[in-house]
Amino acid sequence: MAGAPAERRSGGAGAVPEAGTPDRPDRREARARILVVDDEEIVRDVLSRLLSRRGGFEVEAVAGSAEAGQVLSRRPVDLALVDLFLAGESGLDLLRDLKQDDPAREVIMMTAHGSVETAVEAMKSGAFHYLTKPFQNDEVVMLVETALTRRRLRLENVSLRRALAQRHRCGRLTGRSPAMQQVFRIIEQVAPARTNVLITGESGTGKELTAEAIHNAGSPGDAPFLTVNSSNIPPDLLESHLFGHARGAFTGADRDRKGLFEAAAGGTLFFDEISTIPLSVQAKLLRVMQEKEFLPLGSVTPVRVDVRILAATNEDLGRLVEQGAFREDLYYRLNVITITLPALRDRREDIPLLAEQFLVQFGDEHAKPGLRFAPAAMELLMRYHWPGNVRQLRNAVERAVLLARGEAITPDLLPDEIHGRPAPVVLPSGPLPPGMTYQQAVGEFEKSLILWALEQSDGVQRRAADLLSVKPTTLSERMKRLGIR
Ligand SMILES: Nc1ncnc2c1ncn2[C@@H]1O[C@H](COP(=O)(O)OP(=O)(O)OP(=O)(O)O)[C@@H](O)[C@H]1O
Ligand SMILES: [Mg+2]
Repeated sequence: MAGAPAERRSGGAGAVPEAGTPDRPDRREARARILVVDDEEIVRDVLSRLLSRRGGFEVEAVAGSAEAGQVLSRRPVDLALVDLFLAGESGLDLLRDLKQDDPAREVIMMTAHGSVETAVEAMKSGAFHYLTKPFQNDEVVMLVETALTRRRLRLENVSLRRALAQRHRCGRLTGRSPAMQQVFRIIEQVAPARTNVLITGESGTGKELTAEAIHNAGSPGDAPFLTVNSSNIPPDLLESHLFGHARGAFTGADRDRKGLFEAAAGGTLFFDEISTIPLSVQAKLLRVMQEKEFLPLGSVTPVRVDVRILAATNEDLGRLVEQGAFREDLYYRLNVITITLPALRDRREDIPLLAEQFLVQFGDEHAKPGLRFAPAAMELLMRYHWPGNVRQLRNAVERAVLLARGEAITPDLLPDEIHGRPAPVVLPSGPLPPGMTYQQAVGEFEKSLILWALEQSDGVQRRAADLLSVKPTTLSERMKRLGIR
């Protein structure tokens, strides 16, 4: 009886007291569930007793895969001990089924005929380990505990990664940099308060997505979110567009019309590029914000509304106020809370995260799954200074996806400017600029090349030298000579 466990021969099995209160009842979590599959009854008995008594586990023991399936359909198990040679069927098949059903579930294979090949095959198919009968009690318990620890760690890992990915998102915004994490915190704080928020940042930094995130986190699901893009609306139509008009308010106003403020009641109006609003409309806007009511054009009956106002700009509104192009009082109303979105070049750690996200997104959209960045391509993305910020990155990734032939996004699929290739230069073709010597003219040209390279490489001289294909020492010598700091 080759399969008999050691305990039986040594009387070990008999020495294990009959099932009663397990001596280790208070394990850290709910008791782990273990499935034993062996066609020999004696093995099932011994393992059941050993694992429930000594290990404090909940054990079910069955003879074959059909019964195993029944056990699993009742409740999942954390770990299985499976005999390699079951009567009439293969333990390896069962192993594969068990792993497919739950990859984090550990499976320990058992056999009396320990052979290297089967052991290797079992491990390849995902077995945690391999027990050769006859086995020692301690060996079994220890192996089971190690396997369960690994399972617990795996599950914790998955949920940690999920939580982490969650922390890197806010609405449709993605970012793990401290600067973006701070933005996410502010969004969460201001969202429920329905305060007005001014969102600033360079083009393509995510101002519109930020407005959308504030709205979604702060308003009931069906509340409207409407965008006013005042630069697209002729100034003389903007007022009626926003506030509506009464019949006869102007030629062609043949009936009452509601404006965006009424349409957005209970929700949010997002003023994209608020700096383009003419001063006359600014006055009316200020009034709605203060009084929560307004007069439609040509009407004498005020309309009350509750609308949250979010505004975005990539202009320096403070400067426009100084120049008299923007009302100071409106500026202070809007500016109670300002969210400033950092430029992408100032949070480079977000680049891989965003690039991967766009790769998956466009890979799905253009039916090219499984794409990945070649390290050299990712390196270029990390180095570039992204004047168009996230929008530019998104476009570059989409273009690369469209051009991709294989699975790798290689540097050649990225646009020229990202390679830091010089923009085509127009070389001056004589005569000398007036009042300049030959040496001075050459110096000016050299200076503009160096400044361009420094700008491309964020002032990192080693990279600027790379771009110009000169040695760093040469670059720094020329910089000194030309007075570039
Ligand atoms: N943090 C981010 N995570 C994911 N996508 C982003 C992020 N920031 C911007 N994007 C994407 O970049 C593009 C531009 O974003 P958005 O329109 O919000 O920028 P913007 O600041 O309003 O730009 P503009 O000033 O030109 O109007 C969008 O396609 C958006 O999906
Ligand atoms: Mg925008």
